[in-house]
Amino acid sequence: MGWTGIVQPFPPPFPGPARQFPPPIVPPSVTSMEQLGYKHLYCILRRGPAFCGLDLYRKCRAVIENKGDGKAMPTAVAGKGLEGVVAANSGICWIDGEAGILSYRGIDIHELAEHSTFEETTYLLWNGILPNALALREFQSQLALARSLDQRLIDMLHSFPTSATPMEVLRTAVSALSFYDADEKDNSHDANVRKAYNLTAQIAMIVAIYDRLRKGKEIVPPDRSLSHAGNFLWMLNGEMPSETATRTLDIALVLHADHELNASTFAARVIAATLSDIHSAITGAIGALKGPLHGGANEGVMRLLLTIDRLGADPVEYVKNMLAAKQKISGFGHRVYKTEDPRATHLRKMSEQLGKDAGQPKWFEMSRAIELYINQDKKLNANVDFYSASTYATLGIDIDLYTPIFAVSRIAGWAAHVIEQLDDNRLIRPRAEYIGPAYPSPWIPMEERL
Ligand SMILES: CC(C)(COP(=O)(O)OP(=O)(O)OC[C@H]1O[C@@H](n2cnc3c(N)ncnc32)[C@H](O)[C@@H]1OP(=O)(O)O)[C@@H](O)C(=O)NCCC(=O)NCCS
Repeated sequence: MGWTGIVQPFPPPFPGPARQFPPPIVPPSVTSMEQLGYKHLYCILRRGPAFCGLDLYRKCRAVIENKGDGKAMPTAVAGKGLEGVVAANSGICWIDGEAGILSYRGIDIHELAEHSTFEETTYLLWNGILPNALALREFQSQLALARSLDQRLIDMLHSFPTSATPMEVLRTAVSALSFYDADEKDNSHDANVRKAYNLTAQIAMIVAIYDRLRKGKEIVPPDRSLSHAGNFLWMLNGEMPSETATRTLDIALVLHADHELNASTFAARVIAATLSDIHSAITGAIGALKGPLHGGANEGVMRLLLTIDRLGADPVEYVKNMLAAKQKISGFGHRVYKTEDPRATHLRKMSEQLGKDAGQPKWFEMSRAIELYINQDKKLNANVDFYSASTYATLGIDIDLYTPIFAVSRIAGWAAHVIEQLDDNRLIRPRAEYIGPAYPSPWIPMEERL
């Protein structure tokens, strides 16, 4: 449904063990609500009269809907950056930022990172349940069958300037993929699921193929016997990936697959809600992911590590100076998590282990020193992007592929959200608090203007 107002964190829309639910919110008085600037009002509306008493409930309705003059006027002003706003109902992903919990369809990310694969996780995100053995086999083979790109799209990749970054290429190529999809004009649920398979397979192929083209290498045809992660590494490097490399990437893909209403997913839902098409929604999402405040941060982390290494600087002193100069450190901080990002826990472990195994612990050690300092000095935690940088570096992946690899995974979540949005759609169209010149301002003839 469309944007509905300001609410507090709300219990997830799926039944789950009691520990996963936030503690009940104590109903505030009307005075405290005014002090809070409407923060609790929608929560009360959604939880109903039984939660807070009919009288208080009615008062809240009157305040939020501004019914005094009989007109429904927008009254609640969202915090900058929509902080704290709940903008959709969704059954896909639940996060508790205070407790550091992330779950897909109710299953904790730690369990998925340990036991699941990208294919199984994608099935879960799209279907709401874990697949049985037969369903998983079918899903894997459908995804593998979708590993195909129209020759005209490959020709297009050839024609891009070598100065184009892989993320720019991915954004443009995904937009063009719609031309060659048999379901292009069909926005039905089933057609969007078919397009989601195609997009998931094709995004990985585009990233791998463009990397080879820009390096003057032959394109490696997909291997349909390999997993999604394995095939990506195969098409990227042209050699069979080791089990460790495949499993490391697979876990990274599981960890990045969805994250509720992050900026790119929200962008995708806004576009889908206009009844545009899934290719437009995913193209917009890729554009949002590219920014350094979102998925682009993993590249920023590695550039920082490389700079420190090149200068032979002390990592802690270097970031201390950056912080003193009021610069942000990529890979730290999060809008939702107030404690450790649970994805960082796994990526830290993988970064350390891979570094040890490869006899190349430098990136992990530098990262850890920076993390400990920023943790202590700024009370900021590492986010998903911080240790994915050193993990990918140790796998020998080029820096400007880090954010595209984020997209290779996040397509799973984007597609789930687009389909969920369209299954119960309403245009997403919030209002703005007007802060411009007073109305009515006069139109001034040219000769009188300053
Ligand atoms: C993720 C991020 C965009 C969240 O933004 P936000 O919720 O709007 O938080 P803000 O940018 O308002 O930050 C709040 C405070 O913490 C500080 N802060 C947040 N992240 C910081 C960082 N990475 N380095 C240094 N300071 C940081 C801000 O300077 C601000 O301090 P102030 O109140 O003294 O001005 C932000 O933490 C950030 O820019 N991180 C770096 C980019 C990144 O890693 N992005 C990937 C996110 S998964």
